[in-house]
Amino acid sequence: MKIKVENVSKNFIKDKEQLEVLKDLSITFESGKLYVIVGKSGAGKSTFLKCLAALNKVDVGNISFDDVEINKLNDKEISKFRNEKIGIVFQEYNLLEFLNTYENVALPLVINGKYNLEDDELKKKVDDLLEFVDLGDRSKHYPKELSGGEQQRIAIARALINDPDVILADEPTGSIDKENSNNILKLLKKISKEKCVIIVTHDDNVLKYADEFYNLKSGSLEKYESKN
Ligand SMILES: Nc1ncnc2c1ncn2[C@@H]1O[C@H](COP(=O)(O)OP(=O)(O)OP(=O)(O)O)[C@@H](O)[C@H]1O
Ligand SMILES: [Mg+2]
Repeated sequence: MKIKVENVSKNFIKDKEQLEVLKDLSITFESGKLYVIVGKSGAGKSTFLKCLAALNKVDVGNISFDDVEINKLNDKEISKFRNEKIGIVFQEYNLLEFLNTYENVALPLVINGKYNLEDDELKKKVDDLLEFVDLGDRSKHYPKELSGGEQQRIAIARALINDPDVILADEPTGSIDKENSNNILKLLKKISKEKCVIIVTHDDNVLKYADEFYNLKSGSLEKYESKN
């Protein structure tokens, strides 16, 4: 799987002023690597991730996942594409408070109609993922009964339930202490052996896990030589 970003520009218009956030940005991402993009607050990191997830439309340029140009998809096709290809992890976990761990992880496959909540096959998938994120014994817990690091690992399990090609993570360690943050990063590193993982962050601790890392500055990406 290859993601090609070609000459992308993204502007926001606010109170008649045009704000250029991404300018002629090009990069290629591929499976089997963990990418880290750093950049100061307001540099456009979240905006860029949203463009990759087709949550933002680019103004100029092109983003393609293998042969699929996402700007050319209609709304229905975009939802399907996002559901099948992309797993998203946020700083604030975004778990639903009134659902337990099992239900939170299972939810994407219930919403898209593939399974009922009680299906044995779904249970097996969720149990396997909870084992993978080392939370096999927390399936009945509700988010408020879990630590921040645990909630984030559950959010990662949820992002994986559709077996996506790409994991996009926006400040995944932003609300977690350093030790737990390393557990999250090791987990994302493990996932990147098979998938493409893209992390945007302020957290310098993330850099040591990167196969490639970039600074988003003045709307485009500068590549750094890896410290590994
Ligand atoms: N919907 C929007 N309308 C207008 N301006 C926006 C919108 N979304 C983002 N911006 C502006 O675009 C710029 C980039 O925002 P973005 O959220 O991508 O930054 P960021 O690099 O993720 O910052 P942080 O590290 O603080 O999360 C900011 O100056 C922001 O104010
Ligand atoms: Mg951001």
